[in-house]
Amino acid sequence: MNKLYIEGNKKLNGNVLISGSKNAALPILFMTILTKEKIELSNIPKLTDIRVAIKLLRSLGAKIVNTNKILYIDPSAINIYCPPYNLIKEIRASIWMLSPLLIRFGKAKIFFPGGCKIGLRPIDLHLKGLIALGAKIVQKDNYIIASILKPLKGKYIHLEKISVGATITIMSAATLAEGLTIIANAAQEPEIIDVAKFLNTLGAHITGAGSNKIYITGVLKLNGGYHKIIPDRIETGTFLIAAAISKGCIICNDTEPKHLENILQKLSETGAHIQTGKDWIKLNMQEKIPKAVNISTTPYPGFPTDMQPQFALLNSISKGESIIIENIFENRFAYVKELIKMGAKIKIKNNYIICKGVQKLFSKTLFSTDLRSSATLILAGCIAKGITVVNNIHHFKRGYESFPKKLNKLGANIKYI
Ligand code: UD1
Repeated sequence: MNKLYIEGNKKLNGNVLISGSKNAALPILFMTILTKEKIELSNIPKLTDIRVAIKLLRSLGAKIVNTNKILYIDPSAINIYCPPYNLIKEIRASIWMLSPLLIRFGKAKIFFPGGCKIGLRPIDLHLKGLIALGAKIVQKDNYIIASILKPLKGKYIHLEKISVGATITIMSAATLAEGLTIIANAAQEPEIIDVAKFLNTLGAHITGAGSNKIYITGVLKLNGGYHKIIPDRIETGTFLIAAAISKGCIICNDTEPKHLENILQKLSETGAHIQTGKDWIKLNMQEKIPKAVNISTTPYPGFPTDMQPQFALLNSISKGESIIIENIFENRFAYVKELIKMGAKIKIKNNYIICKGVQKLFSKTLFSTDLRSSATLILAGCIAKGITVVNNIHHFKRGYESFPKKLNKLGANIKYI
């Protein structure tokens, strides 16, 4: 069943429970390689990317019990430093195995990571960071082979480009290095704070995570511990868009409004009525047609690239003309041709799109190309006129837990065919 059948013309209303963050859970899972003691992780989302990460850890020798969104991980028996390439290829996050394997074994060999084809996605900053701390790295036959002869030494590292991935790689390597490491021009995403919080629970000394300078004082050993994964801000944003495009009212529960400030600002510019509480966000479009908004993606606390396709859908059925500029990835407009098939008026120019709102989208057979665009096309199907079929649905399963089921509870009619 690799297709979705979606009945259109739906208004989406009601409550939805937000799952744990994919992009926090994945690095945290791989950081468990840094300790030999038991770890308990809760609020783990049920996603295919997470399943691949669990398989990867098990393939190294970790013992994992998986019950109802809680993982009990015993990493003491991990005894392999070269994870199977067929699993590494499946997810981008597998790059985060490099640093903990290197620290644990003094050597690591991993295949080049996979993930969404949304741009070139080099890993040079990860590797340069590890080299700056004292690692030796060779690239051969699509493998990265890293080694250290003596313990890594803390350094001042200025990232030439803000990178979530490289910040996490360097931060994790520095936890067990000798002395102080400073990461300047660091990424500030909530997921970075969550990884730092997890590592500190295990005994690491990290301060400044969430700002552009992170200080890590190396310790000799990490212990075990318990950590709860933060809510997924991109899943939250996607459900808020579902309310806005269908002129409905959705309350996202178990979320963290502080992580969505920029997204909420843009949504309120569309005319949506937004209320927030400690762990919930309510968006009520009050039957109104949204106003189109201009977007420019930048690293956190700027507007997230992972919400760019969903806002393009919103703009395509909103009043007025808008521009969306994509500054992070080179190839993140693949979904636009599918929206055009549905009647959207969008022009792609280099790294930006110009969108003129239309009154209605019309159902078509669609092909999703990556994670966020697949969620966008599914939402488009919910509001289009007629029956939409979305192909390649393995993409949404990587990052949206029970997406059709959650949407159906809000009033959609989506079936697997
Ligand atoms: C992570 C997220 C992804 C999100 C992105 C930006 C995960 C699994 N993925 O991806 O959902 O869209 O952050 O918020 O958490 N770059 C380099 N060299 C490097 C690393 C990155 O040039 O070594 C470039 C990238 O090509 C991109 C920019 O830096 O243009 C930002 O990438 P980065 O923040 O590292 O994204 P990811 O960690 O891949």
